[in-house]
Parts: sequence; structure tokens; C-alpha cells
Amino acid sequence: MLWLLLLPLASLLRSATATSGGGTTSCTQESCGNLIIRFPFSLAGAQPLYCGYPQFDLTCDTGPGRAQAYLSNTFRERLFRADNISYASNTMVAAIAGNGGCPVPDFNVSGSLALFPFTISAANKRFVFFYDCHVPPEHRLPLLPRLCGNRTVGAYISGRWGEGDTLPRDIPANCSSVSVPVRGGMEPASLLYYERLIDDGFLLELPAPLGDCDGCRRVRGECRLDLLSFQCVCC
Ligand SMILES: *[C@@H]1O[C@H](CO)[C@@H](O)[C@H](O)[C@H]1NC(C)=O
Ligand SMILES: *[C@@H]1O[C@H](CO)[C@@H](O)[C@H](O)[C@H]1NC(C)=O
Ligand SMILES: *[C@@H]1O[C@H](CO)[C@@H](O)[C@H](O)[C@H]1NC(C)=O
Ligand SMILES: *[C@@H]1O[C@H](CO)[C@@H](O)[C@H](O)[C@H]1NC(C)=O
Repeated sequence: MLWLLLLPLASLLRSATATSGGGTTSCTQESCGNLIIRFPFSLAGAQPLYCGYPQFDLTCDTGPGRAQAYLSNTFRERLFRADNISYASNTMVAAIAGNGGCPVPDFNVSGSLALFPFTISAANKRFVFFYDCHVPPEHRLPLLPRLCGNRTVGAYISGRWGEGDTLPRDIPANCSSVSVPVRGGMEPASLLYYERLIDDGFLLELPAPLGDCDGCRRVRGECRLDLLSFQCVCC
């Protein structure tokens, strides 16, 4: 919900900078690190918001180290990193970033993406963390308590994102839990590599194309969104 409040503010700030700062009005393709950014995404500070969906606005953090793009409009700053966009398959790989030193998120990924027009792909697996209860020793994660407010945290991976939303029987029903989609890791050992697994991100399906952006690009036009309807601005 907070996201709804943040978005108009972000848009206002953007249009204010655009009018005062001589910002560009073009939707020419941009990049952030290896990531190519174009319709239906836009790059904050480099492209006007009409270059993509407002929810697909990205912020590029250029340093130190490798430049990384983040979804601009989330309830916490730099919550989701955008790692890979495939314009051909209409998908992207995103990952949870910056969770205050604790690798266990304190939110459900599906809830925090609910207002975005993405679908969490059913090809992901479900990685579930549970805590604030008696954690069976075989599910305990080593090293985590130190990082996460001295909590004992347990985890398991279920086969597919689309199934297994309820805790398995050997886990007390009064545990709190959060679920993270992940791309790999069915073998038990992968629980030991949870940080890596989470950092590798998860697959999101983008909404069906609103218009023929490929066709528009072929004639060197520029794809835009005007009040959520597709426009090819030519040429
Ligand atoms: C991005 O996805 C493409 C196509 O699936 C793949 O070839 C490439 O290695 C990926 N890049 C990264 C950084 O994951
Ligand atoms: C963390 O929890 C353990 C066991 O509950 C306790 O022995 C230890 O003192 C706690 N450490 C801190 C820093 O609170
Ligand atoms: C959770 O349930 C167990 C019994 O199943 C009980 O012993 C424990 O106190 C409960 N924990 C909390 C935090 O309610
Ligand atoms: C995450 O989702 C599960 C299942 O829908 C729910 O039981 C749990 O309370 C949620 N956790 C948080 C922190 O919102």
C-alpha cells in the first residue's frame, strides 16, 4: 500500500527535475552495468517516466563496484535488484537486496510485489524461512542467529512456487514464516547456501506486451506509455 503513496511523490519529483533541470525527453535505450534498459522499463534520472510502466522504473547505483539497477518504487529503498531483463522472452531476474545484514527477509516477496504487474514464475522454487517458534534441529540454519537478532531460524525448500503454501507437518504451526522464490537448489545441501541462493534471484514474468514495440523499434520509433496506453513515437 505504501508503494501507492510513494509513486505519485516520485513522479512529482521526477517531473519537477525534468522541467527545471533540462532533462532529456527521449526514450533512447540506456544501460546500467550489463543491463540494457528500454521499454517497458525506464531509468530514473536518464529517461522520462513515459518511457515505461511507472512500476518498472529502475534506479542505477553506479558505485563502488559494479553498477546495479534496483526497482525504484518499492516500500523500502533498494529492496529488489534487477539482474537480468530478457526482452525476447518477456522475463526478468530480480533478487532481494539490502536487508539490513540479515539474509532472511522480514517480508513475503509475493506480498511486496503484489502491486507490480509481474507474475512470479511457477518455474521458481519456494524457499521458506520460519522463526519465533521451536525450530526442529534438522531444519536449523547455521550462522544465522548471529546475523538476525539472535533468532533461531529454520528453512526448507518446496518443489514449486505455485504449491506448498502451508508449513509441513514437522514444523510447529505457530511459527512465523516468509517465502522467497529461488531459481535453484533442491538438494538438501542448498540450505547451507541460502545466501547465494537468494542472491541468485528469481524469475519474474512481465505483462503481455501492450503494443508492437519491436515493430516500432524496427522503424526507429520510440515506444512510450501515455496514460497506460501504448504509443509509437516516430521517428
Ligand atoms: C541473462 O540471461 C541471459 C539469457 O537467459 C543469459 O544468457 C545471461 O547469462 C544472463 N546474465 C546474467 C548476468 O544472469
Ligand atoms: C543468543 O541466544 C542464545 C540462546 O538463546 C543465548 O545463549 C545468547 O546469550 C544470545 N546472545 C545474545 C547476544 O543475545
Ligand atoms: C508454540 O506451540 C508450542 C506447542 O506446540 C508451545 O510449546 C509454544 O510455547 C508455542 N510458542 C509460542 C511462541 O506461542
Ligand atoms: C507470509 O505468507 C505466509 C503465507 O501466506 C503467511 O502465513 C505469513 O504470515 C506471511 N509472513 C509475513 C511476515 O507477512
